[in-house]
This record gives sequence, structure tokens and C-alpha cells, in this order.
Amino acid sequence: MPVKVTFIHPDGSREAQFAPVGDSVMDCALDNGVAGIAAQCGGGCTCSTCHCYVESPWFEILSPQIEDERELLTYVEDRKDNSRLTCQIFLTEELDGIEVRIPPRDWT
Ligand code: FES
Repeated sequence: MPVKVTFIHPDGSREAQFAPVGDSVMDCALDNGVAGIAAQCGGGCTCSTCHCYVESPWFEILSPQIEDERELLTYVEDRKDNSRLTCQIFLTEELDGIEVRIPPRDWT
């Protein structure tokens, strides 16, 4: 059963996509051509170009950040309390319906 991921673009428009359990939110974005998630390092947790804000109630049930993600997010200019790197969010059935907000990017 695919997991539904809704991407909310900076203009407020919503884009629903689907990906299998085990894929990352970044995989879901790249596989479906979602604008605003460059993912330049391909999920290696070294670039932060997959940064998004995760809406409640999903933010609260995400797996804890690994040290690399926590450190990388400290360098993200538009970081908020609900910032995460989408390459580090791996889809589970529990996350079906997750909503992630894409920050405005100057490279899109
Ligand atoms: S894709 Fe580079 S940090 Fe997530």
C-alpha cells in the first residue's frame, strides 16, 4: 500500500504524491518531479537542499534526527522548529498522509 505524501508549495498549492513504505520523502519528491527539492547529494545528508517543514501531527511522530541531520540543519538559513531533511524521513504506514511544506527557494 503506497503512502500518501502531500507537498505544500511556497505559493500554498498542494501536490499529493505516493511512494512505497521504506522510501524517503525525498525519493517521493524526486520520483514524481516535485519542484523545490533539489536533493543535490542524493540523500547522503550532506547538502540540505531537501530541507522542508513537516506539519503536525506528523512532525511529532517522525524518527529522531541522526547527528548528521541535526548538525546540517544548524546551517540552514530558514530553519524552523519543524525543519527536517526529507532524505532522512523514511515512509511508514503510520506516516500516510504526511504533509511537508517546501520553503521558498532562490534556485527554483
Ligand atoms: S538530499 Fe542532501 S541532505 Fe538530503
